[in-house]
Amino acid sequence: MTVPAFRLHAAGRFESGVVAALQQACFPEDPWDEASVATLSTPPAGFAIIALDALDQPVGFVMARVAAEDAEILAIGVLPQARRGGVGRLLVEAAVAGSRDLGATALFLEVAEDNQAAWTLYKACGFFSVGRRPGYYKRPDGRIAALVLRRDIDGV
Ligand SMILES: CC(C)(COP(=O)(O)OP(=O)(O)OC[C@H]1O[C@@H](n2cnc3c(N)ncnc32)[C@H](O)[C@@H]1OP(=O)(O)O)[C@@H](O)C(=O)NCCC(=O)NCCS
Repeated sequence: MTVPAFRLHAAGRFESGVVAALQQACFPEDPWDEASVATLSTPPAGFAIIALDALDQPVGFVMARVAAEDAEILAIGVLPQARRGGVGRLLVEAAVAGSRDLGATALFLEVAEDNQAAWTLYKACGFFSVGRRPGYYKRPDGRIAALVLRRDIDGV
């Protein structure tokens, strides 16, 4: 029998702390507290999904919100030790499916222009660039632009 390496779990209202801990580990320069995570991922407009490894340890997360026909990935991250194992792709596809279930026909996100790993992942998942916000993200040596990406959601 093959044991799946990772499984996804829709985060419930009492799991905001787990999502916040993952967010802080993946974005130590811009940590969100548990209350912010809870507010942003509260159904029906928002949702959060956690990726668990074979030992049921959380290794990644995605948070998204839906407003009418447009959805947005607010944050996605995989713990450094679990990267390049397909978790990021699973989480993006879960965000697409979750957004579709809530009636969205398009999914947007912002990515820093220098974030090669994320940009490559999104391109592989069908996103394309629809805009650019100069100076959107802070960096230790200045500011960097965000690319606005979009993916159409079929089958609504
Ligand atoms: C971006 C991130 C979520 C990717 O997660 P991941 O689990 O490593 O992604 P996957 O293993 O599913 O990778 C899927 C594809 O994305 C691309 N990719 C992922 N990481 C990459 C890297 N470091 N360099 C180049 N391509 C990369 C590859 O095409 C990869 O497919 P392959 O492994 O078959 O070549 C992860 O690197 C991360 O958490 N980074 C820090 C937080 C962050 O930047 N979040 C996004 C903010 S917009």
